[in-house]
Amino acid sequence: MKTIIYYFTGTGNSLYTARKIAEEIGGAELISVRCEPKQVSAENADMIGFVCPVYEWDIPGTFKEFIKKLSVNKNAYIFMTATYVAIHGKCFETVNSILEEKGAHLSYGRAIRCVASQCIAYPPFPPEKIMIPHMEKQIKKAALEIKSKTLRDYPRMSQLSRKRYDSAMGPYLAVEHEYDKGFYTDDRCKSCGLCQKVCPNRNITMQNGRPVWNHHCHGCNACVVYCPTKAIQFKTPQAYVELGTLISKIMCLPEKRKRYHHPNIKAKDLIKDREKIGE
Ligand SMILES: Cc1cc2nc3c(=O)[nH]c(=O)nc-3n(C[C@H](O)[C@H](O)[C@H](O)COP(=O)(O)O)c2cc1C
Repeated sequence: MKTIIYYFTGTGNSLYTARKIAEEIGGAELISVRCEPKQVSAENADMIGFVCPVYEWDIPGTFKEFIKKLSVNKNAYIFMTATYVAIHGKCFETVNSILEEKGAHLSYGRAIRCVASQCIAYPPFPPEKIMIPHMEKQIKKAALEIKSKTLRDYPRMSQLSRKRYDSAMGPYLAVEHEYDKGFYTDDRCKSCGLCQKVCPNRNITMQNGRPVWNHHCHGCNACVVYCPTKAIQFKTPQAYVELGTLISKIMCLPEKRKRYHHPNIKAKDLIKDREKIGE
């Protein structure tokens, strides 16, 4: 049986989830969103998985585009787990509707509650010592269900979130391309280029030994949390200042704020995956 799990991760929660599910199933191949979808087709897979974080009550745009371009076996058992902290929104509906255009559908969906890792906007919460064991339990449950090909209707967006989606998320999505204008490096930057390698969006290039962000950022924070010298800083971009919303008002990255990533996912795990595709 051929099983492929496709994933997007910024701070490791989703890669950790994908790995644990792969271990439980046995023999599953893990493929990053950084790959070219045409080269990693799921046409011959019997089981297909999608694992990603919830961003702005949906899935990251890059992952959406990846799934759109991916060929799938429409008769496969297809599962999705999304990592999130509070509101999963329409993420499962988005993936199912992309699959339906290919004549396929989600057989299973489960949202996994994790430590939130948007360190540009707020400190990680809930506390790791509470959340990591809880996350572990949820992943175990999902992995066993997936292994036995349980059918599970995927979680839908609540009526309240649906009503509020455009007004709550629209402003952020409108200025998303401005987000990475807030990043800069201080003199702790050692020009190691790790930020470039861990970015799931291929958004960073190195110029004169320093990272340059090229405005295809989803704010995943991988560059920030995996920088070995904490040299990447953030200043609220003007477009967000002008938004004047709660998140944009509290956007900042104090020196002492913990730069959370999943404790078992190190930078080398994200890079290994990049080497696999010949980069
Ligand atoms: C840009 C951004 C947007 C987010 N939006 C949401 C959201 O709408 N709802 C939610 O519950 N969590 C949200 N989160 C929290 C993430 O879904 C959560 O931390 C996730 O586990 C991160 O996965 P990763 O570690 O694989 O990158 C957001 C995080 C980021 C960085």
